[in-house]
Amino acid sequence: MKKRLDQLKAWLKTSAPIPEEFFRKVSSEPVPHHLKRWWFCLGGTAAYLFLIQVITGLLLTFYYVPEPGHAYDSVYRITYEIPFGWVIRSIHKWSSHLFIIAVILHVFRVFFTGAYRKPRELNWMIGCGILFCVLTFGFTGYSLIYEQLSYWGATVAANLTQNVPLIGEYLARFMRGGDTVEENTLTRFFIFHIALLPLAITILLTIHITLIRLLGVTELRFEDDREHSTSHVPFFPNHFLRETIIASCIALVITFLVVFFPAGLGLPADPFVTPAHIKPEWYFYFTFRWLKISSLTVGVLGTGAAAALLVFWPFIDRKIEKHFPGKDISIWLGIIAIATLLVFTVWEALV
Ligand code: HEM
Repeated sequence: MKKRLDQLKAWLKTSAPIPEEFFRKVSSEPVPHHLKRWWFCLGGTAAYLFLIQVITGLLLTFYYVPEPGHAYDSVYRITYEIPFGWVIRSIHKWSSHLFIIAVILHVFRVFFTGAYRKPRELNWMIGCGILFCVLTFGFTGYSLIYEQLSYWGATVAANLTQNVPLIGEYLARFMRGGDTVEENTLTRFFIFHIALLPLAITILLTIHITLIRLLGVTELRFEDDREHSTSHVPFFPNHFLRETIIASCIALVITFLVVFFPAGLGLPADPFVTPAHIKPEWYFYFTFRWLKISSLTVGVLGTGAAAALLVFWPFIDRKIEKHFPGKDISIWLGIIAIATLLVFTVWEALV
């Protein structure tokens, strides 16, 4: 066995003569000791869940038919007829929710540790791009099922887009590929979901990770870090093992959810019957509630302003720090923002 392995190694060395030193340098980059805490591993967790989404999404594409007359039936076949189709679909569904939770928690951790500050402003903005892509992933994916709720969710979203000042009409038409949610809409959502968004997120993630490698992660020291403990550990194997343990725990959680709460299917989309209650996925509850309690224009403008505030936060924070140094105003504003987010989300969930 050892002889065969040595032969394989020698063959690889001649076929791909990349110096071993290169791999050692790339994989054993020292990372700060504080990354041992799970909430500092949320970026890696998100990357792992994204990989699950890509693999299961590709498998689903073998059977999904992006046509209004066949989309629902193809999802039905995947769920109830194709062997293990329900497993793949359920993993894709649950892992998408966990992916979004991991990304949101990662944003919180970056925010509350001030890791968006100089020189990481650009990486924070790239991160915001990733966040918007992730949310659009969720929205387009949900719409592909073509059941009543997802169909009407897409219709409401397109109608809301119409209220964006100046470009609203154009945006809504671009989104639907016409005046109503129909054949063109499904094709567009499908192309976004399986091609454009994966491409965009891959490019943004490559920049994100490259910037992390170039700038390193923010150096922090916690009170409970023992004085004599080493300040850095190699990425491989130390940090990699930590991420693997977390990934294994998440795999267990997904297995539990898939077995006990498999993905189901509602009624097929009917453009002539509006359901009594239209609800988006939970990660849009906050926006949905905000739109309900404000006028449409104020609602849409407010959502845009909140997104812009998030993107440019590192620069706004710098101004706040300059005028009120050491007062932790940003932390308090962050707490208020998260509390509002939670209240609106729970409010919408209970209605
Ligand atoms: C698919 C989504 C994402 C992945 C896979 C990802 C991956 C990572 C990884 C692996 C790290 C290294 C440290 C850690 O794990 O916490 C990191 C750090 C960072 N991320 Fe992300 N990230 C994602 C989304 C975001 C988003 C949405 C934002 C902000 C809006 C963001 C902003 C940052 C910043 C500023 C850092 C540097 C933190 C530091 O220096 O301590 N990331 N990301």
